[in-house]
Amino acid sequence: MRLGVNIDHVATLRQARGESYPSIVEAAHICLDSGADQITIHLREDRRHIQDTDVEAVRLVTKKFGKPLNLEVGVDPEIIDIAIATAPDWICVVPEKREEKTTEGGLDLKSSENFEKVKKACEKLKKEIPGVMISLFVEADEETLRASKKINCDAVEIHTGDFARAHLNGEDTSHFVEQFRKSKALCSELGLGHHAGHGLTAESVEPLVKEKLFVEYNIGHWVICQAVFEGLSQVVGKLKAQIQ
Ligand code: PXP
Repeated sequence: MRLGVNIDHVATLRQARGESYPSIVEAAHICLDSGADQITIHLREDRRHIQDTDVEAVRLVTKKFGKPLNLEVGVDPEIIDIAIATAPDWICVVPEKREEKTTEGGLDLKSSENFEKVKKACEKLKKEIPGVMISLFVEADEETLRASKKINCDAVEIHTGDFARAHLNGEDTSHFVEQFRKSKALCSELGLGHHAGHGLTAESVEPLVKEKLFVEYNIGHWVICQAVFEGLSQVVGKLKAQIQ
């Protein structure tokens, strides 16, 4: 089982003040040094967190560690061109809406227009980046998984956001887990990797890991939030000692 750490929100903190810190390069370095199996970043069309220059900078860190960079992209042609220029190991194709707080749900591959757009983008990525692996961020439903197989991709990343929110609210999550069991079985039949991402925390990932439902977990927001509290006391203590 692989852990991909999504460091977008280190860039969110940096962009909030327009400073050069916290450094996304340092964040990637620390995550890989601490056992992360890959770094995940999302270059959004609106550039709300990760910037174009971050992509190449993080790529250099992942190369140094010999670990994969997983670049999340929408199908916007400009973003696809940046992905091609960067040549990451993995590309995760996601839906993108400008007004959303974060990626809201998986790709709609039931719409033939969307399906064609995603298919075309994946074909271009596969042609232009030799050896690139592609995952599609999708919901765990049979029709969508079968449609994913018709696209030149290697894996699907199952949207776990609704499951994770239900878990956080203490609701019954058994129907989500059952869906994930089914998507795992179907992906294995279709020859697609079965990844998970969105909204996961150390608690909500636990039942998924126990059942070995996924081979890869991409977790970001919770990791950065938790890092604040695990580091806050140390930073305040050090600063107080320095001032005294
Ligand atoms: N996977 C995908 C496809 C995403 O879009 C995101 C959020 O950018 C994540 C994983 C990580 O989600 P979170 O930050 O909620 O852990």
